[in-house]
Amino acid sequence: ALKARPANPLEFIGKYLLPKVSMEVTTVVTKPIAGQKPGTSGLRQKTRTFMGESYLQNFVQSVFDALVSEGVAVKGGTLCVSGDGRYFNSTAIQIIIKMAAAAGVTRVWCGTGGLLSTPAMSAVIRTRDPAGGAAPIGGFILSASHNPGGIDEDFGIKYNGENGGPAPEKLTDKIYKNTTTIAEYKICSGLPDVALDAPAKHKLADGFEVVVFPCVEDHVALLKKVFDFGAIKKLFERKDFSMIYDSMNGVQGPYAKAIFYGEFGAAPGSCINAEPKEDFGGHDSPSHGHADPNLTHAVELVAAMGLNKMGLPIETPKPPPSFGAAADGDADRNMIMGSKFFCSPSDSLAVIVANAQCIPWYKGGLKACARSMPTSMATDLVAKKLGIPFFEVPTGWKFFGNLMDSGSAAFPNSPSYIPFICGEESFGTGGDHVREKDGMWAVLAWLQILAAKNTDPSKPLVGVADVVMAHWAEYGRNYYARYDYDGVDKAAAEKMMAAMVAEQPKLIGTTINGMTISSADMFEYNDSVDGSISKNQGIRFMFSDGSRFVFRLSGTGVVGATIRLYLEKYTPPTGDLSLHAFDVIKPLGEIALQVSKLVEFTGRTEPSVIT
Ligand code: G6P
Ligand code: ZN
Repeated sequence: ALKARPANPLEFIGKYLLPKVSMEVTTVVTKPIAGQKPGTSGLRQKTRTFMGESYLQNFVQSVFDALVSEGVAVKGGTLCVSGDGRYFNSTAIQIIIKMAAAAGVTRVWCGTGGLLSTPAMSAVIRTRDPAGGAAPIGGFILSASHNPGGIDEDFGIKYNGENGGPAPEKLTDKIYKNTTTIAEYKICSGLPDVALDAPAKHKLADGFEVVVFPCVEDHVALLKKVFDFGAIKKLFERKDFSMIYDSMNGVQGPYAKAIFYGEFGAAPGSCINAEPKEDFGGHDSPSHGHADPNLTHAVELVAAMGLNKMGLPIETPKPPPSFGAAADGDADRNMIMGSKFFCSPSDSLAVIVANAQCIPWYKGGLKACARSMPTSMATDLVAKKLGIPFFEVPTGWKFFGNLMDSGSAAFPNSPSYIPFICGEESFGTGGDHVREKDGMWAVLAWLQILAAKNTDPSKPLVGVADVVMAHWAEYGRNYYARYDYDGVDKAAAEKMMAAMVAEQPKLIGTTINGMTISSADMFEYNDSVDGSISKNQGIRFMFSDGSRFVFRLSGTGVVGATIRLYLEKYTPPTGDLSLHAFDVIKPLGEIALQVSKLVEFTGRTEPSVIT
């Protein structure tokens, strides 16, 4: 007898021809992999390591387990997953979607193309309309920030919680602990891969869907609440204003185009390197694949703005644009430039804080500001003048987030909404609209300030250099530079640091090359919000004239150790404010090398990068 065929042909197709969609959970046996301890900003490793058997899976499972043990409602929850578009981004997203399904997550949010910048992820977690579903429990950001991307370069993953900020140390410690004992992970391997190229709602099974939404949507909407886009548009309408923005082939491209072309009508060609690439342009590109906005790596922008990598003016075929800026791979960093002028990140922070009243979000008054310890002390002077609380925290954005979230704890007279601005020397600046540093925010802050200073079209344009020089004339100038020694032998670097700590007490009061060390210590931070103590956050040497130098080991490197030496010399408004920063801090650098015995310990005679 003939077998009965289903009466409905669609049922027939669904039963026999469509790929099998199954929510069946597979338990895969695994074992711990050494070295999965998250650093300053998540877990970063060589891409091939991440592609290795179970490497990503072990870490993701360890996150889910840590969340469950913290009481986070993973089951039935909404989770966001996206990255900066580097090599392995889309593959990793598909794996995490299937593991999220196995962990009981009912909805995954993804930016189009699997893209979300780090600040956009924070904005999505904090502000995206849950559309009747559960608000997100947090999100995975797939990025190694400014580290090069590619199969032979770096990959990274970071978990941000429901406040949109990096997981606190308590959680990352738990995650790490889980990676050392993990025995199995769970995955719905019967789920198909999801198309991420266009906005869509993919209902994969009963109780599990993946929603792909335009990656720029929520971040741009939030920035429109922070800034007066209309006023900035007027600046773009001035004939004497022009700009260039370098997305360095990182994730910022779509955001840059949406804002500069879409909102402000910037001239064609204003956005360069605005196509996200898996290798950020690779070795043969001008940045050699280093999507890192600084004088060394943002080669095209720096040249277009009329400077060389030492920050010195060069001849240009036509006058440089009036404003220039760049972002890193995941677009949380920024570099600000004027025509033949580089604004150091520390100065940028101080200027933004001093001019915060130009930004609508801060109209009601800035309640507090903060900087990381190695960032120059220029902002301290502004905070003092404004009479607002000021905080000095260790390197790492999570410390700022804690202060912003503290509500009444750190600011007894403030409501939980805290107009806050903070920043770091490492080209990161931002506010309390999200819980990450925000490359686009910093640029818009500058454009808003310029817009406010250029309301009269009949007057010549007030540019970045004019604003910064007026700032120095008022507060004095904190000459500043950072020397980086990359890929140093880790043991040698640690020995050098330990030796310096041991020497510190003996050096206080001594004079080297005519400069007297007035104090020296290892920076330690007592978090006024949660009472936690962070030790070993950098070796400080202060001089009687207000200069200082600081040594720290980077927490974001992948190979060996990176030694960072931060140099700062204060000159009051009455002093010479127009010197070149690298020249001014050079003698201080020599003292630092002498004190640290860096050459003896590491064999390095020159820094790899000066910024
Ligand atoms: C990341 C963090 C920043 C930090 C920077 C430098 O970008 O988000 O908060 O300042 O790394 O870290 P490092 O440890 O390499 O100096
Ligand atoms: Zn970054």
